[in-house]
Amino acid sequence: MIRSICAGSALSIIAFAVSSKNPSKPPGVQAIIIFESIAAVFAQQCGTSRGAKIVAPGTSVYFVPPTSNQMTAYFARPGSDLISMLVHSRIEGEAMTKERYLGTFILLIAAGNETTRNSISGGLITLAAFPDQRKKLAENPELLDSAAGEIVRHVSPILHMRRTAVADTEIRGKKIRAGDKIILWYSSANRDEDVFAEPFAFDVTRTEPPHIGFGIGQHYCLGARLAELQLRIFFGEFLKRFPNAEPCGPIRRMRSNFVAGIKEMPVRLRA
Ligand code: HEM
Repeated sequence: MIRSICAGSALSIIAFAVSSKNPSKPPGVQAIIIFESIAAVFAQQCGTSRGAKIVAPGTSVYFVPPTSNQMTAYFARPGSDLISMLVHSRIEGEAMTKERYLGTFILLIAAGNETTRNSISGGLITLAAFPDQRKKLAENPELLDSAAGEIVRHVSPILHMRRTAVADTEIRGKKIRAGDKIILWYSSANRDEDVFAEPFAFDVTRTEPPHIGFGIGQHYCLGARLAELQLRIFFGEFLKRFPNAEPCGPIRRMRSNFVAGIKEMPVRLRA
């Protein structure tokens, strides 16, 4: 399930978003240009060899490490694709540097793929654990909007972020001093019983209060709307075909305190 559906679909969508006008890319293939080391990490995550094609329904993604000439060409010649826009953007008047471009690009690819793939797989586990909600959603596709948000709340694919306090303050009676490191555990905040009625329940009609699975404030998720769109489309189409799909074997989870990742999950598509 993870290799054949979740990883492929999440990757191909982000690949499409950043698809470059790379002249060496084979026709019909969405190419991601990334550095060698990152390509290796992605290849490992997808259980495929570096440079290999990852087959996703109707699309394919290649990992193509750029040559230094290609990098230089991007910086020399603006194009109309997202990579060119990123490369030629200015931040507070300052031109983009190669280092900053790479950092931003890697953030975009990692943030836009780990999260969506694990919200799809986590969503599938959650729907199977709450079959009445799964049935309700399958029979009422107009609930896909609220269900997408509820999946992100319940799954909380990003587990935590850390911040450093810039001033002394107090949160619920706990003193925080400037310089203290504070961890926000999203899955805990998204189950705050002072905020959510029946926080452990999964309710595809829940819209209020808003969850914080996409973060809060200045660094609120750049891809939140894209992620919700992916979840709506995926589960809309999936439940039409497989309304009773459920995990049917051991689930292998990622050893991480940052991403609620699933590495392997056999799924029985038809009851
Ligand atoms: C269900 C899917 C997703 C979840 C749960 C999620 C979660 C988050 C969270 C919690 C943050 C806040 C980080 C912080 O406060 O430091 C964040 C930031 C970010 N996300 Fe997402 N995300 C998802 C999908 C996506 C997608 C699809 C993209 C790209 C297309 C994306 C790109 C980003 C970027 C670039 C940031 C950094 C924003 C900044 O620092 O200003 N995310 N995301």
